[in-house]
Amino acid sequence: MGRGRYPARLKVAPPPPELVARYLHLWPGRELYLHPERFPLLSSPGLFGDTRPLELDIGCATGDLVLALARLHPTVNYVGVDVVGKPLWRAVERAAAAGLANVRFLQADARLVYRRIPDRALRAAYVHFPAPLLRNRQRNQLLISADLLVQMQRCLVPGGVLSVMTDHEALYGELMRLLPAAPGLRLVSPAAWSVTISELLKSHYHRRWEARGRQIWRAELVRASEP
Ligand SMILES: C[S@@+](CC[C@H](N)C(=O)[O-])C[C@H]1O[C@@H](n2cnc3c(N)ncnc32)[C@H](O)[C@@H]1O
Repeated sequence: MGRGRYPARLKVAPPPPELVARYLHLWPGRELYLHPERFPLLSSPGLFGDTRPLELDIGCATGDLVLALARLHPTVNYVGVDVVGKPLWRAVERAAAAGLANVRFLQADARLVYRRIPDRALRAAYVHFPAPLLRNRQRNQLLISADLLVQMQRCLVPGGVLSVMTDHEALYGELMRLLPAAPGLRLVSPAAWSVTISELLKSHYHRRWEARGRQIWRAELVRASEP
C-alpha cells in the first residue's frame, strides 16, 4: 500500500495577506543558510512577543497536532514548521477559523531552522510520522538525525520532551542507534510518557497508519536536568 502524496495534492488557495502576516513566516532555504541572522529567533519573545512556554512541531503538514494543542492550552505558544507551503496554507486557514492567537507556522527546512532556536527555548518538540528513509542517498534528508538530537539537547528546557512517533521500525531503530551520542536526552519508559495522544491529538498520518493496522513506534526523550 502506497504512502500517498497527500500534502502535495491538497487543493488549497494561498491565504490572504492579513492571515499570512498573522500566522505564516516564510524562511527561504538559501537565505536562511547564508544569512541566518536576518531571521527572528525561534522563541516565544522572537515570534510571539511574550515569554510563554513554546512547543515546536517539526514537519507539521496541515498543523493537526499544533492546532489541537493550541486549542487545549491557550497559555502555551506553538510553532509548526514544514518545508512544503500548501499544507501550511490549510493550517493557517484553520488557525484563523479557530481564532487562535498562540500558534504560528513556518515554511522552512527544519534542519536549517534549528540554528535560530536559542538555548532552552523549547518546552517540547514533536517529530511525528516523518518521511521514512526510502533510499540511501536520502539519508541526509532525514528529520531523525544526529543533528536533531544535538540540537534538542541544546534547545529543550531541562525536563523538556522530544516526542517521536513513526510507523517505520527502521526509523525508530535509527533513533535508538543515534541516542547514545546524545547523553543529555533520556529515553523514558511508556509508563512515564508525558504526551498523552488522545483521539483529539491524532494527526492525519497517525489516523491513516492506525486505520491500516500499521504498528506505531513511539519514543519520548526527556532533556536531562542541568548538573
Ligand atoms: C508524513 S508527513 C507527517 C505530518 C505530520 N507530522 C503528521 O503526523 O501527520 C511529513 C511532513 O514532514 C515534512 N518535511 C519533510 N522534510 C522536512 C524538512 N526538512 N523540514 C520541514 N518539514 C519537512 C513534509 O513536508 C511533510 O509534511
